[in-house]
Amino acid sequence: MTDDPIVDALTTVLDDVRDDTSGDVADYIPELASADADALSLVLVSPHGGVHAAGDAGHRFTLQSISKPFAFALALQTLGRDEVLERVGVEPSGEPFNAISLEPGSGKPDNPMINAGAIATTAMAPGETIEEKTSSLLTLMSACAGRELKVDEDVYASESETGERNRGIAHLLASYRAFDCGVDTAVESYFRQCSIQVDAKDVATMAATLAFGGRNPATGEQVLAPEVTRDVVAVMSSCGMYDASGRWTVRVGLPAKSGVSGGIIAVDPSEFGVAAFSPRLDRFGNSVRGVRALEEISRRFGLHMLADRPETSSPVVDVDHRDDATVVRLHGHINFGTAAQVAHRMREEAATARLMLDLRDTERLDESCGVVLRRVAADLDASIEE
Ligand code: DON
Repeated sequence: MTDDPIVDALTTVLDDVRDDTSGDVADYIPELASADADALSLVLVSPHGGVHAAGDAGHRFTLQSISKPFAFALALQTLGRDEVLERVGVEPSGEPFNAISLEPGSGKPDNPMINAGAIATTAMAPGETIEEKTSSLLTLMSACAGRELKVDEDVYASESETGERNRGIAHLLASYRAFDCGVDTAVESYFRQCSIQVDAKDVATMAATLAFGGRNPATGEQVLAPEVTRDVVAVMSSCGMYDASGRWTVRVGLPAKSGVSGGIIAVDPSEFGVAAFSPRLDRFGNSVRGVRALEEISRRFGLHMLADRPETSSPVVDVDHRDDATVVRLHGHINFGTAAQVAHRMREEAATARLMLDLRDTERLDESCGVVLRRVAADLDASIEE
């Protein structure tokens, strides 16, 4: 047990999936093959920027395809939706990430979450050269992560040495005049973007920036316009998990993006961003234990985006400053997001007065949220009315 009930909940999920050693570490990029296959982490970033980290959360890996939604975001922010969607579609391809998914006739890639579409959107990043494009991509992704990110030069060299298939896709794209820059600039910038080094806390914060309308909840910086963020999350929801996207939507139901180094980010809009990391992959190229961990989180906290969530917009908290105590009274439906806000408020109020938590008027208290609130109350020595 830690002093953070959310970390404890995440740790329990990791404990449940830890023994699953099925799947294989990606080795088509030689440098990825040396990853520590046993590394495992789960990190959640909540509305106030609180980082709840379980497992090997400081373990470094490269973004790989998790970079794709952010490159798409940069293209949308730079050129506007109409111009970007002229050049790249937003339809699920139902094909592997490295498929040559180009629309017959126009050569337009199916969507920006597969390599063909991602190379096209990377080419739209501001700058003329590989260095300038990489720098604009790094600037955006660093702002989303809340710290300065860098390219892992060994992984980049390895990707570039073995990247003939992506070069082939880029040449095909160029034959349809998909780029304003040269093929090399597009494809090498794409390799560099995939090779940006992160840890699970970084990517969870990047996911949280998407969850909170483009505002990084840890730094408070409005990095992306809300409408850009919504478009990106929308495409993640239908295309983020490649040819396993439909299955993911049924089982987890959160917009997500995975990468071949073993990371997965998922977004619960207005609630949190979450990231799982574990390098062994299933046949779709998604992390085996990452998928399982996020499936568990979704199930335990009742997070499926299409599940019934009544009254999430109703006011949930009244605070009554009495002489003998401050009463935090909840009503309506207490879900994860509201529970996190209530916990924050409880801590603030408990700093100045004895606290009482009144749960009698709650109409629905999701099980795990009840556990979290009772733990926070116990930690603050608050009394509870249920
Ligand atoms: O294009 C590639 O081969 C990689 N650099 C990125 C692919 C990736 O992460 C696909 N993910 N599942």
